[in-house]
Amino acid sequence: MINQYTLSAEGINKHLKTEFIGKKLYFFDTVSSTFDACEKLDVCHGAVVCAKTQTSGCGRMGRQWQSDMGGIYFSLIIKPDTKAEDLQLYTTICALGVQRGIAKFVPCCIKWPNDIVSKKGKKLCGILTKIKFSSCECDYINVGIGINANNSAFAPELKYASSLGAYTGGRVDENAVLCEVLCEIEKCLKEKDMGKIADEYAKVCITLGSKVRAIYASGEETQGVCIAIENDGSITIQKDDMSLVNVNSGEVSVRGIYGDEYV
Ligand code: BTN
Repeated sequence: MINQYTLSAEGINKHLKTEFIGKKLYFFDTVSSTFDACEKLDVCHGAVVCAKTQTSGCGRMGRQWQSDMGGIYFSLIIKPDTKAEDLQLYTTICALGVQRGIAKFVPCCIKWPNDIVSKKGKKLCGILTKIKFSSCECDYINVGIGINANNSAFAPELKYASSLGAYTGGRVDENAVLCEVLCEIEKCLKEKDMGKIADEYAKVCITLGSKVRAIYASGEETQGVCIAIENDGSITIQKDDMSLVNVNSGEVSVRGIYGDEYV
């Protein structure tokens, strides 16, 4: 049978139009997780560690990320020149870059903080950012990105997921998708005005203006309407009693995409 999946180091190198991201490319058929693979490599700023499949892909909140052939699984290494408090900005910056890249193939939005979803709210891509420390300092940020390009099986807890291929009714070129995403992340990383990033992020974020439920790691919950995306990437929720709560991270469910359910 002809291999229907196109992702390859040659294909990526052919499409890549970036200045520094992905110039150092590590490409694997299979890894446990691209996070594990990075631990064994001497990765530099802008390096991309990409795999066709992962046997133990990690998702947010300790979930598993199903990583079959047809998806795009990679880690992007960023060595920041910024203070530790600013590190979460990279979540916002990279989410916008990924949204811009995927939007060249399928209309999509961001669900705060960094899920890329179709206009109907189906998850097309997940991002998990980890910080690698060496002697208390941030050595690098590992932005792990999983794009549902042409894969069709998703972890059971992802009730609402889809792929770019399914959305277009055919297939997308995995190398082209990855290279557009890398190119847009690079443009966003070069943007020095965080206000501009936050404004554009807000325009494509379905969480803004929606009724949301924030669930903290402790299990506590806050419900209200998301009324702002702040320049530091956090959101402000207005509760029913009109009080305001700032939320930095955690799980935020948005209500109303599928009837009254929070997803
Ligand atoms: C999420 O749960 O939304 C985040 C999913 C992140 C998946 C990617 S695939 C590449 C990288 N390696 C992993 O093990 N996970 C991330």
